[in-house]
Amino acid sequence: MKNSLLAFLVLTLLLTINVKADEGMWLPSLVGKLNIRKMSSIGCKLTDEQIYSINHSSLKDAVVALDRGSCTAEIVSNDGLLLTNHHCGFDQIQAHSSVEHDYLKDGFWAMKREDELANPGKTVTFLISMEEVTDQVLKNVTDDMDDQTRSSKVREAMGKIEKEAKGSTEFEIRVRSLFEANKYYLFISQTFKDVRLVGTPPQSIGKFGGEADNWMWPRHTGDFSMFRVYCAPDGKPAEYSKQNVPYHPRHFLPVSLKGVVKNDFAMVMGYPGNTTRYRTSAEVQNTMDVVNEIRITAREAKLNIIRDYMATSQKARIQYASKFARSSNYYKYSIGQNKGLTDLNVIARKLEGEKEFQKWANSTPERKAKYGGALDTINAAFKSKDEKIADEYSRESLLRGAEIFSFAAKSASLFSALKGTDDVKIKDAASELRSSLDLYFKDYDASTDQKIVATLLKIYSSKVNPKYIPGFFQVIQSKFKGDFEAYSKKLFTKTIFADQAKMEAFLNNPSRKVIEKDMAFIAMRSIFETQYAIMHDLSSSKANLDKARRLYVAGLMEMGNEKSFYPDANSTMRLTYGIVDGYTPHDATYFDYYTTLKGYTEKGIQGDADFDFPQRLVDLYHAKDYGQYGDKDGTLHTCFTSNNDITGGNSGSPVINGSGELIGIAFDGNWEAMSGDIAFEPELQKCICVDIRFVLWTIDKFAGASHLVNEMKLVR
Ligand code: ARG
Repeated sequence: MKNSLLAFLVLTLLLTINVKADEGMWLPSLVGKLNIRKMSSIGCKLTDEQIYSINHSSLKDAVVALDRGSCTAEIVSNDGLLLTNHHCGFDQIQAHSSVEHDYLKDGFWAMKREDELANPGKTVTFLISMEEVTDQVLKNVTDDMDDQTRSSKVREAMGKIEKEAKGSTEFEIRVRSLFEANKYYLFISQTFKDVRLVGTPPQSIGKFGGEADNWMWPRHTGDFSMFRVYCAPDGKPAEYSKQNVPYHPRHFLPVSLKGVVKNDFAMVMGYPGNTTRYRTSAEVQNTMDVVNEIRITAREAKLNIIRDYMATSQKARIQYASKFARSSNYYKYSIGQNKGLTDLNVIARKLEGEKEFQKWANSTPERKAKYGGALDTINAAFKSKDEKIADEYSRESLLRGAEIFSFAAKSASLFSALKGTDDVKIKDAASELRSSLDLYFKDYDASTDQKIVATLLKIYSSKVNPKYIPGFFQVIQSKFKGDFEAYSKKLFTKTIFADQAKMEAFLNNPSRKVIEKDMAFIAMRSIFETQYAIMHDLSSSKANLDKARRLYVAGLMEMGNEKSFYPDANSTMRLTYGIVDGYTPHDATYFDYYTTLKGYTEKGIQGDADFDFPQRLVDLYHAKDYGQYGDKDGTLHTCFTSNNDITGGNSGSPVINGSGELIGIAFDGNWEAMSGDIAFEPELQKCICVDIRFVLWTIDKFAGASHLVNEMKLVR
């Protein structure tokens, strides 16, 4: 009696928590089974087949993973026109920029198809289908199997399924685990490699508000850019070629001019990257104390150096714009996440849930045998910290800190070729390296990197257990008396890897000795050796941890209602649905759900790094020249918020109304709920979207690229 009462209470609790329309990154193939009724009740007029179908074209055919899921984009014309965020095209916009063509500052618009700019390496991936294959994957797995045997059985089965699905298709096939390896899905996809830049507003629109407004609402950023997918004349994916033609998609999104009002249905489809909603209090504590703290410390030091350099000239600003934004984005994220986790008592709430779980797990002998130890095992895995601290510091301040070491690592294949006598191999490796030099050195400032090396090595040596200090640090102690600046200075005068001319001279006459004796190469090898040692120490707790996490989530699902569970994000396609809505960020304040161009002009500061504005935009504002893009209320809406559940990777995702039309582009989350990747906050968590009418207005009225708007299907 007591047990069933408890189970009932837990169930009701879980149901009330999870059934909310806003929380959940759902698998599109399960929408018919799990979500469509609830969606219809809040204004969705679509059928599940219109959202996800493998037999007919559906919304999913217009939503693509950009760069393997680092962002999302949507197709908005029959000629493969793509919309995504400005910050998702930022690397390419920056790469095409120079002092002569400053597309960051001035924007760029291809007025003809021939002017669209190629971007080697940029990819767009379409989902063909997804299908659950858990039973096949776990066919040869038993409960009493040790984890190593289990893993190898699972891998074997996954390989077999992938091979069978591949057959002779040109598609990409991948089995992925979901729910901490409790379920498995087969994903079939197709990747296009000729993705050209079509247009971007200046960053005074596309990145308006800059670092100050990043992760914040209210927002006035026109965070969009445009690309186009090209394919071979036969419609198949192909590397860039003049012969390629615009790709005709199975589906493209019509674009709504109707605007949104509070409580309108809104859904987001896209590729959320990573959430950890089912992790325990011990793991959250580790995220706070280790991952976030270290990221904050290391990046703050690095960003200060880059910021100083960027202020010295236009060239410097262009060179480091993308590197700075990339590093600062998750620097600020970590600050916000730690604050959110503290303010919102996430650890205490997690502990409560864990207590319930343990009670449930202990309530029958069978459960106890299966799930009783899971939480203890997870907690135990987080007791030892040294290797975790070393791992984070090594990633933040050695592997991804300065650039010189990872650049030196690129010569590894040349180095190994030089050990042999195969001249062709040597020549190939050298020319491969040579072909990367222009792009790399265009955006490289050796004196800045020298400062970063000195600063980050010093931080590493002061924070990490001595057993994880790479060997070459001894030389810094003995030969340079522990003076990191002196070491770094010497390194940069001696190495060939910090100077394009030296690199070219070397590649014309490559020798093994030169690489072997190079200070940067020596340091790089030593860093890698240490990283292996760290990984080795981490792996001893990892096997137990993986198993305990799997059992914990299996237990949670058994304890709750399976219908209310969605898998953590893992860069596979998801759908989240909810409504357009504002929120109360703190006492005595309400944040409305939309912003207007008026607010943009209020924030604008001439010449400011974050809030600079183009005069033309302000002139159009004063003339109230909004054309067909203005709202019924006479203003131009810039951004809006919805209660959709998104995270990094969703950037650029289409925000879609109840009729399947594009109403906005998701681009950020809000400061008050930065802990949301770990625990969703129904009252606080918002998806920040740019209003599609602001996007169209910028293309048409501001930039005069009306041919691009005309290419879309507008719905009035
Ligand atoms: N916070 C945004 C995201 O992660 C990125 C915004 C980029 N803007 C910037 N100022 N760094 O999706």
